[in-house]
Amino acid sequence: MRTRITELLGIEHPIFQAAMSWASSNAPLVVAVSNAGGLGVLGAGPLRPDDFEKILVRIQRETRKPFGVNIPLNGARAPELLEIALQKKIPVMVASQGGPREQMPRFRAIGTKWLHVVASVEHAKKAEAAGVDALVVDGAEAGGHPPPSQVGTIVLVRRIVRATRLPVVASGGVADGAGIAALLALGAEAVQLGTRFIATPEASVHDNYKRAVLAAGTVLTRGTPVFDLVKETVIRASPESPLEIPAGAVVVPGARAVTTGWGKELGLSLQTPVIVKYRDERTDLSTALESWLR
Ligand SMILES: Cc1cc2nc3c(=O)[nH]c(=O)nc-3n(C[C@H](O)[C@H](O)[C@H](O)COP(=O)(O)O)c2cc1C
Repeated sequence: MRTRITELLGIEHPIFQAAMSWASSNAPLVVAVSNAGGLGVLGAGPLRPDDFEKILVRIQRETRKPFGVNIPLNGARAPELLEIALQKKIPVMVASQGGPREQMPRFRAIGTKWLHVVASVEHAKKAEAAGVDALVVDGAEAGGHPPPSQVGTIVLVRRIVRATRLPVVASGGVADGAGIAALLALGAEAVQLGTRFIATPEASVHDNYKRAVLAAGTVLTRGTPVFDLVKETVIRASPESPLEIPAGAVVVPGARAVTTGWGKELGLSLQTPVIVKYRDERTDLSTALESWLR
């Protein structure tokens, strides 16, 4: 099937595997999706710069097809990650959390296609005015960071398709073939699936998480501010402003915080050998869990 998105990116199918911190912060999932003709997207947000570089090298070795990289532009490590992404000439940027104007020109100059994640009509128009190539529209159903407005995918995609001239990638609750057909019928020119790809052998999460996704019914989706709250607290902590640890959080000195609530929901415990899953990529989570388990 051809759309403006497949033409723009040179992919066979109008299907993106969404950037998912940790779950798609590794090479195998991205490579598998891109090699299958979709667009694999690396979730670079939680990666340390040296790990990011190694993973990019591996992706570029294992696929010749286009792939994407998601960098949250206001993240603490964004400047370093952006330099590496530029140096490695990534084919597609899927930028989130921050405006495109500052960084986009240097990527466009080396041929990178710049897609911007938006979650409102207002931001979609701003991104269009800034000159992005296409939009990824996250509706309220999107796992991870759904828009605070809680406007659902079906409504938001339709509105943004009408409000801008840009091709739109619809994201949030798509899940299967019927979902893909529905969003394309509403004017999207590709779809992005996240949670669905967690239940794959290549996703970099514990098997309990994959089982939880497969076993989930329609009422198990839950939102919690705890993970972000903890992350923010850790990033901003300094000797002058000590950590204020929210209830239910475990903070690992010198590393990121892991919420006990999150782990418990997935059936993890201190004895669960989650560490094995992450050891080769050496992400922050592995450091956190290693020192936590010690
Ligand atoms: C575990 C998880 C982590 C996510 N991390 C990110 C991220 O780092 N950056 C980002 O732009 N979106 C992130 N998202 C949102 C996805 O890119 C995508 O919009 C969403 O998963 C689509 O909804 P779906 O899960 O219903 O398919 C994440 C989603 C999940 C489920």
